[in-house]
Amino acid sequence: MTAIKGRDSFKSKFGVIAAAAGSAIGLGNIWKFPYITGENGGAAFLFVYLAFIAVIGLPIMLSELIIGRKAHRNAIGSFKKLAPATLWKYIGIFGVGAAFFILSFYGVVAGWSIRYIFIAFSDLSYNGAESVNAFFNSFIKNPLQPLIYQLIFMFLTGLIVIIGVQKGIEKFSKILMPILLVLIIVLDIRALTLPGASDGLRFLFHPDFGKLSFEGVLVALGHAFFSLSLGMGTLITYGSYINKKNNLIRVAINVTIADTLIAILAGIAIIPAVFAFNLEPSEGPGLIFITLPNVFKSMPGGDFFSVLFFVLLTIAALTSAISILEVVVAYFSEELKMKRRVATVFATVLISLLGIICSLSLGIYSNYTFFGLNVFDLLDFISANILLPIGGMLISLFVGWSLGKYKVFKEIAHGGSLKGSFLVIFMFLVRFLAPLAIFFVFIKGVGLID
Ligand code: TRP
Repeated sequence: MTAIKGRDSFKSKFGVIAAAAGSAIGLGNIWKFPYITGENGGAAFLFVYLAFIAVIGLPIMLSELIIGRKAHRNAIGSFKKLAPATLWKYIGIFGVGAAFFILSFYGVVAGWSIRYIFIAFSDLSYNGAESVNAFFNSFIKNPLQPLIYQLIFMFLTGLIVIIGVQKGIEKFSKILMPILLVLIIVLDIRALTLPGASDGLRFLFHPDFGKLSFEGVLVALGHAFFSLSLGMGTLITYGSYINKKNNLIRVAINVTIADTLIAILAGIAIIPAVFAFNLEPSEGPGLIFITLPNVFKSMPGGDFFSVLFFVLLTIAALTSAISILEVVVAYFSEELKMKRRVATVFATVLISLLGIICSLSLGIYSNYTFFGLNVFDLLDFISANILLPIGGMLISLFVGWSLGKYKVFKEIAHGGSLKGSFLVIFMFLVRFLAPLAIFFVFIKGVGLID
């Protein structure tokens, strides 16, 4: 492969997929997906989510990769280059904002994961589900402890981004994600053989659409973006590191399938266990941290699996977090002309500070609420359910209408051939179906229309 002067790039084909999958697969799949599925009634939510992945997520993922590889710039610079002197560049600004918000609460949850690595060997005296619950709640409400873990996580994230794209990201993702997959399958087997697990399976796969509110539909849409790392330019930035020889369609399809598979497998590990241990599926952000310790306690070698699981979850979170930070750093360094190192330190510090507020909003600041949400939930809601869908809608409109069919064809096919029908369907999705669906779900979900 020829190196692109002055800019890092991915080495191998598998490296590209592994890095993009490393970005997509993270806390979104394993922490967030099970708990929002639990909160929004189970199977109906899952099915709507899957539909959004197929008709909105996949085409927008391909769109981001096309933009990034074509422009060969960061999320904002790409629009400036492809459509100079237009308003499109403001899409990128949305993205940088979303990245700030997401990484601030993401770092908090990743910090919990680090804490849980040490749990099996330390201070959790296990007396059934109650004690697990009490432990989690007192931990996240503590004004100091979770901050330490959050800051450790943010420090690691910043450090890897400083080391650089290829060495930092590619190496990590390749080996560890497959191990995580195997471990989740082990957990699935344990969860499914627990007494009472079948109620959980029914909840997860037997839809009752009456249980799904329109806000739930918006959450499903937001999560399609969140889980696939879409809507804020992460995959524009990654696309810009992808070699022209790579097949973008293949990258998009593989990453989407891997991401969705992991989410469903995580759901199968968590939800049946929730029912088996008489916990609440609508528990909220603490769901996996309350459910999994019970699962580990009920299996042979549970301590070992627990440590391994939280180590891998932390690493999965890390490979996602670096991709979020990368958006901000690429912007600061390429557009604002900061040195990369300086940009990374600056962004990491700012995001960590906002993260501290998120963490405290679950404890001593829990009285401060906006629209009934604490800061943690608010930043999650604004970024996943507002900024990402709007960003995604604009990205698909950009590819559909501004880039247009000819340039899209050239970038995807890249000298090779492409089935005509593929292009027709893709253009229909990005021009009409995806943006209209997002628009409709968005205005109805936030309550602008009845
Ligand atoms: N997709 C990641 C997860 O599921 C989180 C993430 C990484 C992300 N990059 C993103 C979310 C960009 C939105 C946008 O954990």
